[in-house]
Amino acid sequence: MTTHKVVLIPGDGIGPEVSGAVKKVFAAAGAPVEWVLRYAGEAALQSGADDVLPETTVAAVREHGVALKGPCSTPIGSGFRSVNVALRKKLNLYAAVRPVRSLPGVKTRFENVDLVVVRENTEGLYSGIENLITEGVVASLKVATRTACHRIAHWTFRYATHRERKKISVLHKANIMKMSDGMFIDESRKVHEVDYPNIEYNEVIIDAASMKIVQDPSQFDIILCENLYGDIVSDLCAGLVGGLGVTPGANIGDEDAVFEAVHGSAPDIAGQDLANPLALLMSSTMMLNHLADTRKDEACRNVATKIKRAYNKALEEGHKTRDLGGELLTSQFTQAVIERL
Ligand code: NAI
Repeated sequence: MTTHKVVLIPGDGIGPEVSGAVKKVFAAAGAPVEWVLRYAGEAALQSGADDVLPETTVAAVREHGVALKGPCSTPIGSGFRSVNVALRKKLNLYAAVRPVRSLPGVKTRFENVDLVVVRENTEGLYSGIENLITEGVVASLKVATRTACHRIAHWTFRYATHRERKKISVLHKANIMKMSDGMFIDESRKVHEVDYPNIEYNEVIIDAASMKIVQDPSQFDIILCENLYGDIVSDLCAGLVGGLGVTPGANIGDEDAVFEAVHGSAPDIAGQDLANPLALLMSSTMMLNHLADTRKDEACRNVATKIKRAYNKALEEGHKTRDLGGELLTSQFTQAVIERL
C-alpha cells in the first residue's frame, strides 16, 4: 500500500483538538497517510518561528502537495495579516470548495440540503490593500482580474461536470460594483455559453439570494461567488445544516490543495474538549478523495468511505457534541466514530 505524506498544520484555538481527533480516526481507520507536522498562526510563534506563516510550512505544502489545516486566529483591527489569506495567495489556492449537506440525526429547518459553495479565494476585498486617504477616511481596494474571474468560472463548471451537478448560480452585486462584479459575471456567463452550455446557469443579486437560500435552499445547487461574498455565504449555508461544526472545505490550486473546515479557531470553547471535530474530519475525507483522484489510489477512497459511514452512524445513533444539541465532548465523539469504523 502506498503511503502519502500530508502536511498537518494544527492551527490555533480548537485546531489542535480537532486535528488531534482526525489523527486518531485516521490511525484507527488505517488511512495510508503519514503526517508531516508544520505550524502556522500563533502556534508558529509559540513553536519558536519568527513569522505566523513560516517559509518552512509553505515549502512543506509545496513539496508534498496536500495539507490538512486547522484554523488560525487573525487579530481584529491591528496586528498581523491573516495567515489563511496569505497561505491561499502564496500557494495560489484559487478555489475554495465548501459542500453543505444535511447529516443523519442532525435536525434542522430543512431536510436533504445538498449544495456546494465555490469561493474565489485570491482577490476581491482580500487584496489587503487599504489606504488612509486622510485622517478619518480609509479606502479598501477590491481587486478583480479577468484571469482570476475566468479561472474560477472555468474551475467551477469543470467541477460541476465531474460531480454531475446540474446548475451554477453566480451571486453578485454587479448593480453597484459594475466593473468588478460585472467582470465576474461576464466571465462566468462566457464560460457557460462557450464551454458548458448544458449546465444550467443563473445570476442572482446577493442580497436577494441570501433571502432565497434561507427560504428554500433547494433552489440552489452550486453557488459561485467572489471572495467576500463566498466567505459570508458559506457561513450562512453552514447554518442550514447544523452550523460551523459540520461544514468542511478545501482550498484547491493547480499544484497544491489545503483542506480545512469553514470554522475559525473558536476561542470561546478552545482547550475545553468541546469542539465538534466533524468539520475537520469531513474535510479530511475530502482530502482522501482528492488523493484518490489525483494519485489514482482507491485505498484512499475506501478509507474515506469507511470514515464517512462511521460518523454518519454515530450521528444517527444520537452521538453528538454540544453544538448539535448533544452532550459529548470532542474526545467522546471521536471515540464514538472510532468504535463504528
Ligand atoms: P469561529 O468559527 O471561530 O467561531 C464562531 C462560533 O462558532 C463560535 O461560537 C464557536 O464556538 C463556534 N464554532 C466554530 N467552530 C466550532 C466547532 N468545530 N465546534 C463547535 N463550535 C464551533 O469564528 P470567529 O469567532 O469569527 O473567529 C475566531 C478566530 O478564527 C478569528 O481569529 C478568525 O480570524 C479566525 N478564523 C480562521 C479561519 C481559518 O483559519 N480558516 C476561518 C474563520 C475564522
